Amino acid sequence: MTKGFPILTPEQAAALVKHNETVGFGGFTAAGACKVIPLALAERAKAEHAAGRPFKLGVLTGASTGKSLDGALAAAEAIAWRTPYQSDPTLRKAINEGKTKFFDLHLSAVQPTVRSGVLGKVNWAIVEASRVTPEGEITLSTSVGCSNTYVRMADHVLIELNAYHPAELTGFHDLYEPADPPHRREIPIYAPTDRVGSTVIKVDPKKIAGIVHTNKPDESGGFDAPDPVTTKIGENVAKFLVDELRVGRIPASFLPLQSGVGNIANAVIGALGSSAGIPPFMMYTEVIQDSVIDLIEKGKCTFASGCSLTVSPAKLQQIYKNLEYYRSRIVLRPQEISNSPELVRRLGLITINTAIEVDLFGNVNSTHVMGKDLMNGIGGSGDFTRNAHISIYTCPSVAKKGAISTIVPFVTHLDHSEHSVQVVVTEHGIADLRGKAPHERAMAMIENCVHPEYRQLMKDYLTISNKGHVPQTLQNAFGMHQAFLQTGDMRNTKWLS
Ligand code: COA
Repeated sequence: MTKGFPILTPEQAAALVKHNETVGFGGFTAAGACKVIPLALAERAKAEHAAGRPFKLGVLTGASTGKSLDGALAAAEAIAWRTPYQSDPTLRKAINEGKTKFFDLHLSAVQPTVRSGVLGKVNWAIVEASRVTPEGEITLSTSVGCSNTYVRMADHVLIELNAYHPAELTGFHDLYEPADPPHRREIPIYAPTDRVGSTVIKVDPKKIAGIVHTNKPDESGGFDAPDPVTTKIGENVAKFLVDELRVGRIPASFLPLQSGVGNIANAVIGALGSSAGIPPFMMYTEVIQDSVIDLIEKGKCTFASGCSLTVSPAKLQQIYKNLEYYRSRIVLRPQEISNSPELVRRLGLITINTAIEVDLFGNVNSTHVMGKDLMNGIGGSGDFTRNAHISIYTCPSVAKKGAISTIVPFVTHLDHSEHSVQVVVTEHGIADLRGKAPHERAMAMIENCVHPEYRQLMKDYLTISNKGHVPQTLQNAFGMHQAFLQTGDMRNTKWLS
């Protein structure tokens, strides 16, 4: 039902947005991200630039988006500034070349930061919906992100009403926005299954500037099939958790799991699902990926709370063919709730995220290659890691065909400190860093996680760095990175003594 609202073409919608305005886009990952208005905005920016006029926007999102949003706007040089997490190659390049201003935020912090006014006014909310009523009730599609906050705070709202998604999605979302301090109370979620908010966004219909009809699938790619390395990492995580269960450090009923984004995370959840030693579990996570859907079907995952259904088109169709089955097993929440530090701590999550590099002492770099080039952003990894019951980091022990060891003496950028990171897992094994002093942590990392080709190099590092509470030598701390930058291979590292 769209009666009463102006029906616009994407170009007409894009023409309403002015240079220098701030747009809060709905969606989270490519799931539920807008697809046609941003493309039209990109075309408009190109035309304005060709005519010698400026056209750039402040771009707020939930997290990464699809290629028609970040990719198209970045290619058109239409983004003045952007936050939070992104994963688009064109945007990444613009950020790393200093052409687009990017500042990162923990994903749970985006909505409170926008509400605080620090980022200025939100002129437009542009969101994808599966249903809109004349009373201004919006049912979102495959994600929530920050849509509820952007729609409430924006001066004007544009909606992509996407017929690809069934209108019967109403009931999949649970939209709750906490009051800000000093009026905030606890978020009343005590189990992943709790629903505490509205199923729809309610907005004053007068704020809806127009609706654009679409019929387009999410631009989510599929996942690579697990390879021997990611399979082994997954098996090692499962082994660690089975052992924790056996010794009683995880209750027999298990604890809710959070799992990060990408192929490794997808493979890890798959491995946990096929481990006989792990009982059926719930997920309280950010991104619900393909492997979670498989586990729901098998009964191994009994409930999944997330912020987005970032699944391949085939998996989404599987869900849409069986909506009633999934309605009682999946809930989609705003990111300040899916990633809420309060809830992560209360629910006692076991969190599993992926690192770019980890140092011998457990500090983790999730975001910057060689300390300077942004990969994607911190996403929700900080929200979960800092507050987890057990925080686990996974990564292959080497990158770039072995030329880079992902375990290094000192991380070149710090996202998660040794105080928050408890367990590190590679394809070679598990380093349980809990209760260990820095030197013991380093030994656990070398013996269990470092690739065999780098073990002696790391042992030698500890031999020359044998003083102080943390065995570091400042002149060598980035020696492996220097060797890579100078020779293309960390195996050429020579320690300075
Ligand atoms: N140095 C240089 N490059 C490295 C590297 C290192 N130490 N470690 C990994 N890479 C490169 C890989 O070679 C690969 O490059 P390619 O795309 O050119 O092949 C790329 O980084 C991705 O690595 P991959 O091993 O495929 O891992 P991934 O796809 O699982 O992504 C992160 C890993 C860290 C980039 C990703 O998990 C991320 O963005 N994390 C931060 C946010 C987060 O954790 N969110 C989850 C919260 S819910």
